Amino acid sequence: MDSLLHYATVALILSGSVVAVPSNERRAVTPVVASTTRYGILDMQGLNRDSCTSTAWYNNVLWVCRDTQPLVNGLPENVLVVNTASYSSIPSATTPANLVLTSPQGFGPTFFPLESDECPASGLCSDGTRWVGWPNTAPIVTFAFDNNVNSYAFIPRQHLSGLSVIADAGTTLYHALWQGQVNTMPSVSVAQSQFWSADQVGYGSTATVISNGFAYLYGPTPSGQLAVSKAALTGFLGDLTSKSIYQYYVNGAWTTTAPSKSDSTISLPNTSTVQGQIYFSTKWQSFVWIGGDGFPNANFYISTAPNPEGPWSAHTLFFQGEVGNGSLPAYSAVAHPGMTDGTGNYIFITWTKTTASSAGDIYTQPLVRVDWQ
Ligand SMILES: *[C@@H]1O[C@H](CO)[C@@H](O)[C@H](O)[C@H]1NC(C)=O
Ligand SMILES: *[C@@H]1O[C@H](CO)[C@@H](O)[C@H](O)[C@H]1NC(C)=O
Repeated sequence: MDSLLHYATVALILSGSVVAVPSNERRAVTPVVASTTRYGILDMQGLNRDSCTSTAWYNNVLWVCRDTQPLVNGLPENVLVVNTASYSSIPSATTPANLVLTSPQGFGPTFFPLESDECPASGLCSDGTRWVGWPNTAPIVTFAFDNNVNSYAFIPRQHLSGLSVIADAGTTLYHALWQGQVNTMPSVSVAQSQFWSADQVGYGSTATVISNGFAYLYGPTPSGQLAVSKAALTGFLGDLTSKSIYQYYVNGAWTTTAPSKSDSTISLPNTSTVQGQIYFSTKWQSFVWIGGDGFPNANFYISTAPNPEGPWSAHTLFFQGEVGNGSLPAYSAVAHPGMTDGTGNYIFITWTKTTASSAGDIYTQPLVRVDWQ
């Protein structure tokens, strides 16, 4: 940890690198698509997996995906882990091509490990139910310097029967640390089980954005909207494990007391819990949400806000991806702000499209670049 310790001060500067602009200086934003370019697909190098999200990871991109199977002769094998991770480069800004995702660890083990009460290692329980550790969004990087990356992920503990949730069992905080080892995945551990209890919002599990020295952490409310908390990046290397650094947006103001998720004043108007990403656009000097509307399609919507807590504009549809012929035709409309050049002039998007096969659904994730006017 020596070099990490040495650069702790730098982390505080870097983590505040998104410049705060007073909201009254920000224009209302109406994003308009100038052009779209089909790059190809995410080349999974022999893995069948869905719902991949990404984050900028030093000079690479870190991807986390959900259910993963090996593909043998183009067909999925009857074995599965609930999440896996990969790296990729940043796509070329000028030459459309498939984007290769490499997994130094190969098929399995689970990137965010299941906990001892979640029927590890596969999540499959003897009664036919299933625990999943499905990431909705990639880890939030709170420190990156000198070949060291410190990051956190908030993963809902979900117990399923089929695709129905039997029990919402809180949200666990995972820590992912990378210290420059070439061609290795970050080391991942449980920082705190049930960091958010079952009657609290799973802050950070739906979307995250760093701004002005805070990690803004969004989670779902029972009304299908987002609530937000913010954690001050004042801890060592952007540590997110102490509740003392957290504030919660309740009834239009920040407070240090975590609300119950049933508090009707925490839901942010014009937000949605469907998988989506939030980032800051330097082009628009605005926060941006991009996401979908869930099964069974790949419709992409955009919404903007002058501040992380809003007010968020109504979603507008800006792209419709093609669907497949598998059991769930398309879903997981995901944006990848970590893969842009920082100008905000364009964004990469992917979605999951399923194709029926004799051995179950095959997942394809098309990659499209959207340029804004
Ligand atoms: C939600 O979007 C609509 C349509 O743009 C807008 O009129 C309304 O003010 C928004 N709600 C909030 C609370 O911002
Ligand atoms: C599903 O789509 C794939 C790819 O387009 C095609 O090869 C296959 O024949 C289709 N299967 C069915 C049952 O329509």
